[in-house]
Amino acid sequence: MTTETDSPRVLHTQRIDIQESGLSGDLTELVKDLSPTSQARTILLLQSLRKNEAVIGVDDQKRPVIQYKDERSRKLWWDASNANILTKPRTDDDVQVKMDACLEMIDYLKKHKAPSGVVLDPTHVSSKAGYYREGREFTKTKDVLGKGNSAGDIIVIKDKTTQTESAHKTMMISYFREEEIRAWVDLSETGIPPALYCFKLEGNRIHIFMEKIDNGITLRDIIDTHMGNIRAEDPNLARPFSLYVFHGLLSAVHTMHQKGWTHRDLHPGNVMLQESEGVIQTRIIDFGLAKPMDSEDGLRGFRSDIAEVVRKFTALYIDEEFDSETDFRKNWKDKVQQMANLYAMSKEDKVELFSLIDSALQVVSLSDVPRLQEELATKMNFDPQSLSKQVAKILFAKPEFLSVHPDSQDLETELQKIKLAMGTSKKTGQSTMDQADSGDFIIDDDDGYFTTEEINDNFLDNLRKQTGLGW
Ligand SMILES: Nc1ncnc2c1ncn2[C@@H]1O[C@H](COP(=O)(O)OP(=O)(O)OP(=O)(O)O)[C@@H](O)[C@H]1O
Ligand SMILES: [Mg+2]
Repeated sequence: MTTETDSPRVLHTQRIDIQESGLSGDLTELVKDLSPTSQARTILLLQSLRKNEAVIGVDDQKRPVIQYKDERSRKLWWDASNANILTKPRTDDDVQVKMDACLEMIDYLKKHKAPSGVVLDPTHVSSKAGYYREGREFTKTKDVLGKGNSAGDIIVIKDKTTQTESAHKTMMISYFREEEIRAWVDLSETGIPPALYCFKLEGNRIHIFMEKIDNGITLRDIIDTHMGNIRAEDPNLARPFSLYVFHGLLSAVHTMHQKGWTHRDLHPGNVMLQESEGVIQTRIIDFGLAKPMDSEDGLRGFRSDIAEVVRKFTALYIDEEFDSETDFRKNWKDKVQQMANLYAMSKEDKVELFSLIDSALQVVSLSDVPRLQEELATKMNFDPQSLSKQVAKILFAKPEFLSVHPDSQDLETELQKIKLAMGTSKKTGQSTMDQADSGDFIIDDDDGYFTTEEINDNFLDNLRKQTGLGW
């Protein structure tokens, strides 16, 4: 039995204003060419959009998909998982089709002794007689670790026998791809993903039990809130911390690629920084879109992963995340230049930033990565351990610590203030770089500002020649 594995995943959603897009007229007029059933459904859909009960997003293949805010109606309209649950066929033909499918499945289970799940770590998952059930073998706690698009809440559960905690993720079969598990298991020795304890099929949902990443924060949260605290503590921390994360994430992604997997969904909610005894490590979660390096999409996935790593770097360093990978590749020179000017970066820091992004974008194969890693290492003119300790104190501060910062309740305001403050410190040229040759770069304007004309191919070519690292 084969299953369709590339089911759509909603990547982002966007509101559609029906009033403004000319759909406010008579809806029946709009759908008159459709069949009666489709007419009824389309009208319901448009009404849901109008009432903002539903939003339209795009899946990973850029196809529009509907996402309902209300779980019940979402099931009705957007649940391709009507598998492994009871069905009530409406016609005799349908009875035959459904019976055949069900009997085929029973036959398959019998023939292959197919289990409903696999326990990979019995020290965390104490199944009894082949079952691992809520209320019996484990209990749910009230702790919610996060929320995903394809998964619901990721919650903490407690094993009744061992009293150990795990993170529990569930998703509908339609969202599930077997590569999620295959990549995860292949990477288990690396320590990059959380340890996978068990996965199983129950009804029309896949259940995953995994290591709870303690003392972990997603890059989403770090970009959105914690960078403000870091800059408030010391504006000079932004550069080394961003380089540190760039380096850590690049190594993790490189290891993943060497193990034969591309992730293809490295958005900031899928990367976590975890603190353990003052050391910050990079963890990657959610292999829901993973594909083998040697698949047809391997190279695309590889390039996308590398671009995503750089986007995390710019998001942390200069608060520029870019709208998409395409936006990044197309507009990075303009956008980075604007933000670098806004942050009043020194000439040396700007040259370093442009050089790193440019080098990363030239990575097209696995064998190019070590050169980028070397270049990155030469920029890391700080002690990673003490940096890690210093930042960990800020990132993983107890609430009492944060409350001493007067603006901690309004981090957005704080970030704005810091940006302004950095703007006024432009003349002091606060570079944290200690590179003897950095003053010799080709750019000869002394205002430290780059203009669009300056960031051109010649500029980048010169950078490559001077660093000797371009290729
Ligand atoms: N093992 C874990 N430990 C701690 N937090 C976790 C863990 N797994 C997931 N989370 C949290 O839950 C969130 C959603 O998890 P996950 O990315 O696996 O769900 P998803 O539905 O596949 O996400 P997406 O929105 O990327 O499709 C994460 O961003 C993270 O905050
Ligand atoms: Mg995710």
